[in-house]
Amino acid sequence: MTDSDTQGKANIGVIGLAVMGSNLARNLASREGNTVAVYNRSPERTDLLTEEHPEAGFIPAKSIEEFANSLSKPRTAIIMVQAGKGTDAVIEQLTEVFEEGDIIVDGGNTNFNDTIAREAALSDKGLNFVGAGISGGEEGALKGPSIMPGGSAEAYETLGPILETIAAVAEGEPCVTHVGTDGAGHFVKMIHNGIEYADMQLIAESYDLLRRVGGLEPAEIADVFEEWNSGELESYLIEITAEVLRQKDEETGEPLVDVILDQAGSKGTGVWTVQTATGLGVPVGGIAEAVFARAVSSKPAQRAAMQKMIEARPEIQEAGENFADDVQKALYASKMVAYAQGFDAIIAGAEEHGWNIDKGAVAKIWRGGCIIRAQFLNRIVDAYENDSSISTLLEDPYFAKAVAEGEAAWRRIVAKAALSGIPVPGFSSALSYYDALASERLPASLVQGQRDFFGAHTYKRVDKEGVFHTLWSGDRSEIETEPSTH
Ligand code: 6PG
Repeated sequence: MTDSDTQGKANIGVIGLAVMGSNLARNLASREGNTVAVYNRSPERTDLLTEEHPEAGFIPAKSIEEFANSLSKPRTAIIMVQAGKGTDAVIEQLTEVFEEGDIIVDGGNTNFNDTIAREAALSDKGLNFVGAGISGGEEGALKGPSIMPGGSAEAYETLGPILETIAAVAEGEPCVTHVGTDGAGHFVKMIHNGIEYADMQLIAESYDLLRRVGGLEPAEIADVFEEWNSGELESYLIEITAEVLRQKDEETGEPLVDVILDQAGSKGTGVWTVQTATGLGVPVGGIAEAVFARAVSSKPAQRAAMQKMIEARPEIQEAGENFADDVQKALYASKMVAYAQGFDAIIAGAEEHGWNIDKGAVAKIWRGGCIIRAQFLNRIVDAYENDSSISTLLEDPYFAKAVAEGEAAWRRIVAKAALSGIPVPGFSSALSYYDALASERLPASLVQGQRDFFGAHTYKRVDKEGVFHTLWSGDRSEIETEPSTH
C-alpha cells in the first residue's frame, strides 16, 4: 500500500455516535497510531463530537460514502448502534460501499445466532464480519473495555492490534483476544452477561440477608461490602454495590436503595444465555434464577395478591454468631458455582459451533474492563492453566477447597433464609446444584421409572448394559429393548 493510499486517511471508523460510540471513538483517537473516522445518521451528533473534542483529530463524514472514502484499506468500521434492525440497516449501507477484504465490526449486544448468519452472508461477498462483545459500559468504552471479538483470523490480523490499543489492561495484558470464529465473540459476551446477572443476584441476596436477618442499615452493609472488596470477593460489582448502598436520596434523605422500586428490568442477554445453555443441555441455575428473580420482582399483581392472601410470615431468625462471615462464604461458594456453570456453557457452545475457544484466555480478558472484572478471574485462569481438561471448575483444587471451607456456612445461610421466609434463589439453587453433583444416587432413577410407565421411554440399569422397558400395563415383567425414539 502506498503512502498516498493511507495519507490523511483513518485506520479505523466508528458508526453510531451515541454515548458508547462516541466514547469508543474518543478512546481510539487518544491512542498512538490511530486516526478515527466518525459517522452518525443524524449529522448533528457528528458535529457535536468533533466540536467538543478537537484534540481527537476525528475525520467526520456526512455520508456513508464519505465515511468509506476516509478509511485506508482494508477499511475497518465498528458499528455502535442499537442491536437488531439498526445494525442491519448500517450493515446494508456498508455492504454498498465496502470492498473485498474490508472489515465490518458489530460492537453491540447482538444475539450470536444473528452474527453467525451475518458473517456467512457477508463472507460470500468477500467482506469480513466480526461480532465483538464490548463490556464495561460507557466508562469502559472511554477508558478501556474488555473486548470479545469473533470473526475470521484474517480480520483479526488487522482488527486485533487496533483493539489492543484501547482495551483495558490486566496483569500487564490487554483485555482482548480473538475468541473464535463467526459468532464466538458475541456468544462469549452473552455468557459474560449471564454471569453478570448471577453475580448481581447473589450480591442482592447477600444484601437482603444482611438487612433483614443481620438488621444492618444500607450504609453499614456498604461497610461490609467494602471490607469484602479487599479480599477474595474483590470485584467491580462488589465495589459499586457499596457505592449504591451508601447513596442517599436527595429528595427524602433516605437511602437511595429504599426509594428505588423493587422491580428489576433486563434487556435480554440473560434470557438468551438461559435459552442457549438449556438448548445445549447445560444447567445454568445461577443465571436462570437471576433471570427469574428479575421476572418475579416485576409481577406486582401476583406479589400483591400473595401478600394479601398470607396472614402470617415466618419470624426472622436470629442472625447468630459470625452471620456476615457466613453470608460472605455462601456468596463466594455460590459465585464459584455460577462461574463454573457459565464456563460449562462456553465449552458446550464451542463444541456445538466448532469454535476453538481458549477458556483461560477468556478468563484473562475478563480480569479488567468488563462488568464482572474481579481478582477471582485469576483463579479461573490458574485452574485452566493447571488442567484445561477438568470436567467442571469445581473440580479444580482451589475451587474444591474453597467450597468445602464455605460449605457449612452456606448450608446455615440457606437454612436460615428458608426459615425466615427470605428468598435466596441464587444461593439455594447453587447449593442444590453442588449437592446434586456430590450425590451418589439421584432421584432421576424414579423419573426414568415414571417416564417408562406413562411413555415407554425406556431406562438403563446400574447392574448391566442395555436398554429396558417394564410392561407396566401387562404382567410388569421387564424386557430388553431399543432406546425410545418418540
Ligand atoms: C456490559 C453490560 C452491558 C449492559 C448490560 C445491561 O458488559 O457492559 O453487560 O452489556 O449494560 O448487559 O443488561 P441488562 O439490562 O439486561 O441488565
